[in-house]
Amino acid sequence: MKITLTKQFILRCFLISFFLSTPLIFLHLFSPQPITNTTTKDLRIRPGYTSYENYIQRQLNKTLNPKLRKIWTTRDWNRKIPVFARFFEELKEKNLLHNTSKALCIGARVGQEVEALRRIGVNDSVGIDLVPYPPLVVKGDFHNQPFANDTFDFEFSNVFDHALYPNKFVGEIERTLKPKGVCVLHVALSRRADKYSANDLFSVEPLVEMFKNSDLVHVRSVDGFGLDTEVVFRKKLKQPRTL
Ligand SMILES: *[C@@H]1O[C@H](CO)[C@@H](O)[C@H](O)[C@H]1NC(C)=O
Ligand SMILES: *[C@@H]1O[C@H](CO)[C@@H](O)[C@H](O)[C@H]1NC(C)=O
Ligand SMILES: *[C@@H]1O[C@H](CO)[C@@H](O)[C@H](O)[C@H]1NC(C)=O
Ligand SMILES: *[C@@H]1O[C@H](CO)[C@@H](O)[C@H](O)[C@H]1NC(C)=O
Repeated sequence: MKITLTKQFILRCFLISFFLSTPLIFLHLFSPQPITNTTTKDLRIRPGYTSYENYIQRQLNKTLNPKLRKIWTTRDWNRKIPVFARFFEELKEKNLLHNTSKALCIGARVGQEVEALRRIGVNDSVGIDLVPYPPLVVKGDFHNQPFANDTFDFEFSNVFDHALYPNKFVGEIERTLKPKGVCVLHVALSRRADKYSANDLFSVEPLVEMFKNSDLVHVRSVDGFGLDTEVVFRKKLKQPRTL
């Protein structure tokens, strides 16, 4: 008698916990890939993003902030464009960028870097961000660029720290760059990035590992609005064959 009761009790506990956990199992199976997928010693995905939607909402919160947008298009506009223009002129001198390059700026917000490229003669330049700012910036998520393979000669970004999936961020750059195309990233290695960052990078090593279809061209110190390091890659001519 006592044993039967215990059995029933155990069965009931099992059934209750099964039904309670079923939604969680489904949620797990059908949710996007784990958010900590690329965390390594020198690249840490910040905790606290419960879903991709939650992450996008948070990024939009910053991008759509009217006060910030006002600053970006007024005070920052004249302050930042000459600095970007100087960075790009230096890349031209190193033959990494040309007037005829088709150029993309990733996470460009209101497009200061795009305007800088156009001013120095790189006319075929455009930016992408979650919120468009025509004509300089079109709508696009850097985790899923709205461009065909082998489109650009040059891609620039200073928002690597905003990538929730750094592997996708890099994979999309390598996909949309033409063979021999150049990618220039400005990143923060020693300073901590802002509260909207989704990852923290502590060395160049994780980037070198992720850019597996590219060669490292150079790493140098820069003073780029809180970002201290410029890392340049060139996409290889031939993709390694996957057997
Ligand atoms: C977005 O910003 C508003 C007001 O600043 C805040 O109340 C809200 O919680 C924020 N949402 C997210 C997802 O961060
Ligand atoms: C870029 O545009 C300027 C001004 O419209 C023009 O003078 C120049 O020839 C263009 N350069 C290229 C490479 O198309
Ligand atoms: C590139 O464009 C800039 C700005 O229009 C111009 O001053 C420069 O001479 C051009 N460079 C070449 C190599 O055509
Ligand atoms: C584009 O590139 C990706 C990754 O390199 C590849 O998997 C895909 O098949 C390519 N798509 C086309 C249409 O060539």
